[in-house]
Amino acid sequence: MTQPQKGICAEPNLHAQYLLFNVVDDDSEAVRAKIARVVDVFEHFENEHYEAMVTGIVAIGPGYWTDLYPGLIPPELAPFPDMQCEDRSAPTMPCDLFIQIRADRLDICHAIGIEVMNLLRLHVELVEQVRGFRYLDGRDLNGFIYAPENPRGMRRRETAIVGEYDPDFCGGSYIHIQRYRHDLRRWFSLSPRQQEQVMGVTQEHNLESAERSASSHCERATALSPDDGMPGLIKQGMPYGDMRTQGMFFVSCAASAQPFRTMLHSQIYGNGDGDYDRWLDYSSAESGASFFAPSITFIRQQAMY
Ligand code: HEM
Repeated sequence: MTQPQKGICAEPNLHAQYLLFNVVDDDSEAVRAKIARVVDVFEHFENEHYEAMVTGIVAIGPGYWTDLYPGLIPPELAPFPDMQCEDRSAPTMPCDLFIQIRADRLDICHAIGIEVMNLLRLHVELVEQVRGFRYLDGRDLNGFIYAPENPRGMRRRETAIVGEYDPDFCGGSYIHIQRYRHDLRRWFSLSPRQQEQVMGVTQEHNLESAERSASSHCERATALSPDDGMPGLIKQGMPYGDMRTQGMFFVSCAASAQPFRTMLHSQIYGNGDGDYDRWLDYSSAESGASFFAPSITFIRQQAMY
């Protein structure tokens, strides 16, 4: 039985450390071994600090995958989709490695980050580090509850993890990330009613808003599975920010790369009648990258070759 990485289906945490790296040497044998040790570090902290609910993800980008694991390519691993329509865009920032560290203790997140840096230091350059935090009762900084519709229980695994139908990559997950920057001054100049029109749900309880339209975020982002009407991805992103910039570090984990692409396309290009996602008038993606997070079983087996 393949063991998926814990962070893919994890329940929400209080803190996150998102790290993006490019690999700068060609010692892929050493990097394979170190990635397995990153997984060991996650496990060590999970066991040592049980109450901190530590979870991690290590994922590899399409530009580095074939160097790291030659011969075996996840069939849907492709560069981040480059989309642009009027002033809405999904800028790409391809990266070799993505690491998501999450815990209910900021000190533990930090300690794991330092261990990961020490392990990889010789081989990588750090491209980006973003610290995510839980805001109020699980809300985005725009005030709306974030990701309450994520699949629950066993549905999480079915949605986010590649199944036995792909024996080489089962237990893995297709990951997309985007760093969004909000324009909260403009957002909070809207009335509560206007905000609910934009999001398509009520702010207080996340109920479908009577004001929902074809250009509401929830309407444009919906790409539910035709089989069971469930969302095709799990959202694992968190708010980030300081006194200058605020936004959402968006992370999607899915058994297929397709749902994310379909949703993003629908948000940016709209439905052909000019109904694009109005939320994109208040938040812009500044980066985007795609990855595959192989199973722990895969990572450990490959490290032995
Ligand atoms: C700044 C970035 C974003 C913010 C702050 C945001 C916020 C929200 C909020 C508050 C909701 C309603 C509650 C919920 O179901 O989560 C929602 C729904 C949703 N969002 Fe986003 N979102 C962002 C970007 C995206 C992106 C990039 C995608 C996919 C490409 C996406 C996909 C969805 C989906 C699938 C839903 C559920 C729709 C439904 O089934 O009703 N979101 N989002």
